Amino acid sequence: MNEMNRGGRQPSEINWDEVLVFPMEEIKLPPLEKRSGWILDIGAGGEGIIGLLGGTRVVGVDKSRTELEETSDDSLRIVMDARDLGFLDGTFETATLFYSLMYMSLETVDNVLEEVKRVLKPGGELYIWDAIVEVPPEVDKKYFLVQVSVVFPDGRLGEGRYGMDIRRQGIETFKEIAQHHGFVVLNEEAKEHSFFLRLRKE
Ligand SMILES: C[S@@+](CC[C@H](N)C(=O)[O-])C[C@H]1O[C@@H](n2cnc3c(N)ncnc32)[C@H](O)[C@@H]1O
Repeated sequence: MNEMNRGGRQPSEINWDEVLVFPMEEIKLPPLEKRSGWILDIGAGGEGIIGLLGGTRVVGVDKSRTELEETSDDSLRIVMDARDLGFLDGTFETATLFYSLMYMSLETVDNVLEEVKRVLKPGGELYIWDAIVEVPPEVDKKYFLVQVSVVFPDGRLGEGRYGMDIRRQGIETFKEIAQHHGFVVLNEEAKEHSFFLRLRKE
């Protein structure tokens, strides 16, 4: 699977005729103060939004050292493949995936959610933000690009642009895999091109 504008391709090298560009959508991040313990953020590279949200409480893992080196926040950043997390069972109260699942094959998503479930404590919660990609049949594009403006609980603003090979996906795609691993849905919100899913490990 190719990443559209990560892994070396500069925006100037992209043929924008091949890209389905979605309009910017706003995401209001929840305060995480009420959650105790560390927060495991998977796919913590890119803009490192969860590191900016949770600071020193965040343990951010990413399989790409380069992606982690490009972020700058107070989180602990570790190069690690989330299909094989090097943490003991029941380590974390909270885990997050902010626009990371769209960069993984569905087989990898399955492995990662199984690992997240293992390292969460019973009653621990998983927050997922990701893209809804619906492609009208007449559209013939190779890639999609989602754009999000992020509002932090303290009023700070951020932005993220995430591009990948076209794949139809939505809230159901990930909800089904999570439920297969025994996660219970606590909350789900969908806009036109973005969704938020809050899950609990029973
Ligand atoms: C675009 S970033 C996610 C956005 C980021 N969370 C942010 O706040 O901007 C997607 C990341 O997922 C990482 N990734 C993909 N597969 C992974 C895996 N199996 N384990 C760990 N990280 C993975 C990629 O290296 C990439 O840095």
